[in-house]
Amino acid sequence: MLGSHFLYISMRAVDLIRKKRDSGEHTLEEIQFLISGYTKGDIPDYQMAAWLMAAWIRGLNRAELAALTEVMLYSGEVVSHADIPGKKVDKHSTGGVGDKTSLIVAPIVAAGGLTVPMISGRGLGHTGGTLDKLEAIPGFNTALSLGEFRRVLRECGMALIGQTAEIAPADKKIYALRDVTSTVENVGLICASIMSKKLAEGIDALVLDVKTGSGAFMPREEDAVHLAEVMVETAQRMGKKAVALITDMEQPLGRMAGHSHEVIESIDVLKGNGPSDLHELSLELSAWMFYLGERTASVDDGRALAEKMIATGQALEKFRQGIKLQGGDARVVDDTSLLPLARNRAEISSPKHGYIRDTDCLQFGIALAMLGGGREKKEDAIDHGVGLEFHKRIGDRVAAGEKLVTIHYNSQTKLAEATEMIASSFEIGETAPAPRPLIRRILGGS
Ligand code: URA
Repeated sequence: MLGSHFLYISMRAVDLIRKKRDSGEHTLEEIQFLISGYTKGDIPDYQMAAWLMAAWIRGLNRAELAALTEVMLYSGEVVSHADIPGKKVDKHSTGGVGDKTSLIVAPIVAAGGLTVPMISGRGLGHTGGTLDKLEAIPGFNTALSLGEFRRVLRECGMALIGQTAEIAPADKKIYALRDVTSTVENVGLICASIMSKKLAEGIDALVLDVKTGSGAFMPREEDAVHLAEVMVETAQRMGKKAVALITDMEQPLGRMAGHSHEVIESIDVLKGNGPSDLHELSLELSAWMFYLGERTASVDDGRALAEKMIATGQALEKFRQGIKLQGGDARVVDDTSLLPLARNRAEISSPKHGYIRDTDCLQFGIALAMLGGGREKKEDAIDHGVGLEFHKRIGDRVAAGEKLVTIHYNSQTKLAEATEMIASSFEIGETAPAPRPLIRRILGGS
C-alpha cells in the first residue's frame, strides 16, 4: 500500500511519455496519473500532446485501452436516468464528412418512444462534429448542466449536449487537443474517447456507426472492423447492448457538408425528403436503436416505426421541441434562412466526360476546415455558414463542364487552395465503377 502510494506520487509525465515513446506498456496507475493530472490541469497541453502522439505511434494494448476507457469514464459522473421510465439508447459515429445522422435519428427515436441522452463531440480532424452543427442554430445551447440535461430529457425524450465538467471531462479536454495535434486516428484513443462518453450518459443500449473509406479515421475496412469489435466488446463488458454498423465513407454522406448546410439537409430528411443515402442510413440506425431499446421486436419493425415517425411529422415536431428546450430558435425548421449562410459561391466543374469512379473524401473535409469549417488551433472559432454542396456521387455520369461541387464561402483566404484540393479529389474515368454498398457489415447486436 505504502509502496503503491510512493510510486504514484513519484510519477512524472515526462517519464511516462518516454516510456510510451519507447514502446513501453502502461499500468492502470500510470494511465490514471496521466488522465487525472491532465484533467485537473496539473499536466500541461504540451506534455499530453507528446504522450498522445507517442500513444498514436506505438499503440495501446487491450489492457491499456480498457484502463484508458475506464479512467476517462470515471473522470466525471456516470449518470443514471432511473427516474425516467423506459429504455435509454444512443447512437455514435466514428466521424466522417457530411455525417449528420445524429440530428435525424435522435428526434426519430425520441418520437418513437425511447429516451436518447446524447453526448456528442465537436469537429475532430477533417470531420464535422454534432455540437458545432447544432450551434449553427441561433441560441442552441449544447452546454447544459447535468440538471438541465435531465430536465430536457424528461420533457422531450432527447437531449444533445457536449462533454461537461461533470460528464466525461477528460474526453472534453483530450478530444479538443487531439483535434489540433493529428492524434485522432488510433483505435485505442477513439475507443476510449467514444466509450467514455457513451458509458457515462446512462444508456441501456448503443448503436455504433463505424465509418470506413477515404473520409474515415479508419480508411481500411479491416481496421474499422477491429475498432468496431473493440467498442462493442467494451460496451458489452459494461453491461450494455451494442451493435456496430460498418458504413461507407468513401464519399460524403448526403449532398451537403458544413454546419448550417447539414442542419438544412437534416431538416429535409425529417420532412421526408433529402438524399437517399442519408435517408437510408438514418432509418437503419434508428431501426437498430428501436430494436436494441426493445421498442420493436425486430430491426425490420424498427425501420417501419422510423419511417412512420417521418411520414407523420412526429420526428420533425420532436426536433422542433428539442431545439426550443435547448434555447434554440425553432423557426429554423420552417425558415432555414435564419441559419448563418456564407455570402459567396464558387463552382467546380468537371474537366471531362466520364463517370465519377472515386473521391478522396479526406481532402473534402480538410478543404472545408480550411475555409473556416474546422479548427487549426483549440481556440479557433467555427464559421457555421461555409459549406460544400456535392452535385455528383460515385458512379454518376458527368459531362465536361458540368458542376461537381458548389463551394459556399465567406473569405477568399485559402479559397484557391481549397478549390484545387476539391477539384483534384475526383477520379473520373471512362467506365462506371462497381456499386458500393452503404452498409458494409454489421457486428454484434444479438
Ligand atoms: N468520435 C469521438 O467521440 N471520439 C473520437 O476519437 C472519434 C470520433
